[in-house]
Amino acid sequence: QKDGYDWFMRKEIFEQPKAVADALLGRRGLNGQLALDEMRLSDEDVRDIDKIIIIACGTSFYAGMVAKYAIEHWCRIPVEVELSSEFRYRDPILDNGTLVVAISQSGETADTLQAIRHARVQKSKVLAICNTNGSTIPRESDAVIYTHAGPEIGVASTKGFLTQLVACYLLGLYLAQVRGVKFDDEIARILDQLDGIPAAIESVLADAESVYALARDYVSTKSVLFLGRHAGYPVALEGALKLKELAYIHAEGFAAGELKHGPIALVEEGLPIFCVIPPRGRDQLHEKMISGIQEVRARGARTICLAEEDDELIKPYADTLITLPKVPVLLQPLVATVPLQLFACELATAMGHDVDMPRNLAKSVTVE
Ligand code: F6R
Repeated sequence: QKDGYDWFMRKEIFEQPKAVADALLGRRGLNGQLALDEMRLSDEDVRDIDKIIIIACGTSFYAGMVAKYAIEHWCRIPVEVELSSEFRYRDPILDNGTLVVAISQSGETADTLQAIRHARVQKSKVLAICNTNGSTIPRESDAVIYTHAGPEIGVASTKGFLTQLVACYLLGLYLAQVRGVKFDDEIARILDQLDGIPAAIESVLADAESVYALARDYVSTKSVLFLGRHAGYPVALEGALKLKELAYIHAEGFAAGELKHGPIALVEEGLPIFCVIPPRGRDQLHEKMISGIQEVRARGARTICLAEEDDELIKPYADTLITLPKVPVLLQPLVATVPLQLFACELATAMGHDVDMPRNLAKSVTVE
């Protein structure tokens, strides 16, 4: 049931506050400590981990990229992120100190399934982050964190992605807790920040109309770029993927620092560029992002900046400003992704495309 929405995707975008709340539900034990019930790894297993490899495809891969920033920062364990289809065929170095984390909304993606089978043969432990109870990937894994987003019908992943992010953050905090690398009160503080995210997403959704109006201005656009840094970089990639999938237009995401190494040659008069601006708390990142924006504006780009609500510094550099609630940089993908989903959904609708069933795509990709 679409509950009055035109598309399942739009409904699922608006379900995200609840999906994120559900993903967080019941994760704190009586003593306030983080408890992951379906996490069938012993404390000893967790302490033995010396490397994490995250494998996934598409949007789930971008969740893995965000996870790398968070888990390395919180746990000081090296994390690699790799596309499942590449991992399987390159003879990766794995042993029983390697934790392989497979992220899959459907739990049936063939590339990811083959990759975890390969990892288990090499004696690595496999943890699945999955939305679909009883699907093949969690069944074949040593441990699982379910994302509890509820069924995702739209082919393009939305609430699946945000809840994967939540599961990745929970995993990082859990590893930090068991390995004793963070104080309990620090972990509790980050969990409190996560508890504030559903309301923060609500506030982004409350402004959906202005994103829709913007999208309708772009129906004849041929190309859109997305820039981000740090945790905003995977958000840029995800924004671009949504636009390719749904609007069938050329869209590319870049790490802002890479611009001068090539992509800036693409910039011409009037090119729309979405810029995910890091929170002001991280001034170095913020300054670097602004200098990238100056470069593209000097070449005629039109910038659409997603920035914290009280970010006054960004105003002179934004042709259009989309404001985001204040959240820490590592959690910013949970709010910054939402306007990009709304934009892609509305632009595709205005172009007359079938948003729930984009051409050439399937909800679960069960062939390699
Ligand atoms: C994008 C999208 C795909 C999936 C990818 C992995 O909107 O839906 O890129 O993210 O096919 O699927 P799962 O997570 O089911 O393994």
